[in-house]
Amino acid sequence: MTTAAAPIAVAGVASGTAAAVRHLAIIMDGNGRWAKSRRLPRLAGHKAGVEAVRRVVEAAPGLGIEVLTLYAFSSENWKRPAEEVADLMGLLRHYVQSEIDTLAKNGVRLEFIGNWRALKPDLVAMLDEARRRTAGNVRLRLVMALNYGGQDELARAARQLAEAAVAGTLDPADIDAGLLGARLDTADMPAPDMVLRTSGEMRLSNFLLWQSAYAEFVVTETLWPDFDAAALASALDEFATRERRFGGR
Ligand code: FPP
Repeated sequence: MTTAAAPIAVAGVASGTAAAVRHLAIIMDGNGRWAKSRRLPRLAGHKAGVEAVRRVVEAAPGLGIEVLTLYAFSSENWKRPAEEVADLMGLLRHYVQSEIDTLAKNGVRLEFIGNWRALKPDLVAMLDEARRRTAGNVRLRLVMALNYGGQDELARAARQLAEAAVAGTLDPADIDAGLLGARLDTADMPAPDMVLRTSGEMRLSNFLLWQSAYAEFVVTETLWPDFDAAALASALDEFATRERRFGGR
């Protein structure tokens, strides 16, 4: 059974069924500004950001979302001060360790995209174990983008195709969007219907560049640590006002 076709209550729309957001991808932005406005260290903002992750993961299945992809650490985030990078890795480790039982119990399948296998070996082992443990769950796919960059993902896929061509197992003339898409980290996922960015910036920041081709882009002013189920429902309301044509008319 799928929840994809479940009607979503739409504020301001008298009747009808909102187009479903099966795959929601979120650029979680504003942790630093949230902390700064409270004269707190950036770490406090990131910790509050983890609480927002918990709230959204809990609310998502009830809103019809099947796949939730969160941009947790980009391939460019290494440019941040070493202390902040260590804080973010520590929070990731703590989130997975402390949440895995709840995720497993609630039918959440935890997955990762990006060059996450290049992280520290003990962290990779822990993430891999969490991934295996929840692999049979079907209520929600929670996809963490870790050490993820869209350009890096496309380059890795292109390298694989080139290697196959050199090995003689692939004719370059056969390369098309389907073949390249099948080499991406998201190969077995539906494309995102909506990319949501919090805290007002209007940028994709190297997130799901290929997969977002026809995603609806929604930006909220809410800073990520303040994001909750009500803010998520409002963002889905905004999506429901959009007419999607996928290049047709
Ligand atoms: C942007 O805030 C957010 C990030 C750098 C990554 C998101 C990280 C979390 C929500 C915490 C980690 C959570 C898990 C589960 C791994 P920013 O620092 O760029 O904010 P700013 O633009 O206001 O400075």
